[in-house]
Amino acid sequence: MSENPQPSIEKVLKLYKSRAEFHGDENAVLDGSILHDLKHTNIIIDYLTRRALLDYLKPKKDDVIIDFGCGVGRLTFVVAPKVSKIYGLDISPELLMIARKKNQEVKMNNIEFLQIDIEKFDLPEIQFDKIFFVGTLVHISDHVLEILLPKIKARLKSNGKIILIEYLKADKSLSQNNEVIMRSHEHLKNIFEKNKFKIALLKPAIRMPSYAITIWKKINASFSFLLPFLYLVEKATLKRKSKFVDYYYYAVEIIMD
Ligand SMILES: C[S@@+](CC[C@H](N)C(=O)[O-])C[C@H]1O[C@@H](n2cnc3c(N)ncnc32)[C@H](O)[C@@H]1O
Repeated sequence: MSENPQPSIEKVLKLYKSRAEFHGDENAVLDGSILHDLKHTNIIIDYLTRRALLDYLKPKKDDVIIDFGCGVGRLTFVVAPKVSKIYGLDISPELLMIARKKNQEVKMNNIEFLQIDIEKFDLPEIQFDKIFFVGTLVHISDHVLEILLPKIKARLKSNGKIILIEYLKADKSLSQNNEVIMRSHEHLKNIFEKNKFKIALLKPAIRMPSYAITIWKKINASFSFLLPFLYLVEKATLKRKSKFVDYYYYAVEIIMD
């Protein structure tokens, strides 16, 4: 076995099975913690990632979209009312069960949740305008990413886009284990370019550690009306004291070369 294992599908499946069974809701994908204060932090992480996704995805009403690694459908449900059709794809049957159950309640009939194992099967047979990943590439090894990218290429419309809101290291280091791979943006760029994609935009969207999250931790959830203001705080402080940044959620827009 390699000294630096990259994420394995079996380990990731196991991780999310236990999170899905423990939380049964969106906390299963925001973090795996049972601690109250981390659930409190999840409120702002949910808000910031939602806002960042909408800012960069720019959904249009005719769009056919894939939410790759949709989990419990946290963001699928946010994007669905703004587009023509959205497919939520995930490898975890337990998370998809939560997503489908929610859709039985909210009845959004332009959503389809599908289980996918990209190593073995293809993407659904549709042409799509955009595919997005939020916190998902971090679980996908270079090997699986190399399998996935040509499959995306074959189905993405010629003017289509890949949008990422993904954790990337602030420096050039790589941190990886058998559940998570945190790449540098150079590393990510290389893989996409090798597969004939072009990075059209790459910029930090959420700083870690984050000033906005630090403020949120000092107040309680009844102050949720401050979340839009904290999103502005996050944007304004992204570049502050960059040497103390461990990683960012980067917003990345990728097009076909
Ligand atoms: C941190 S969660 C994010 C979920 C969702 N994007 C969100 O932001 O709410 C990561 C998701 O990636 C999914 N995932 C990990 N590896 C995958 C793979 N190889 N294929 C499809 N989904 C995968 C996990 O099951 C999990 O739902």
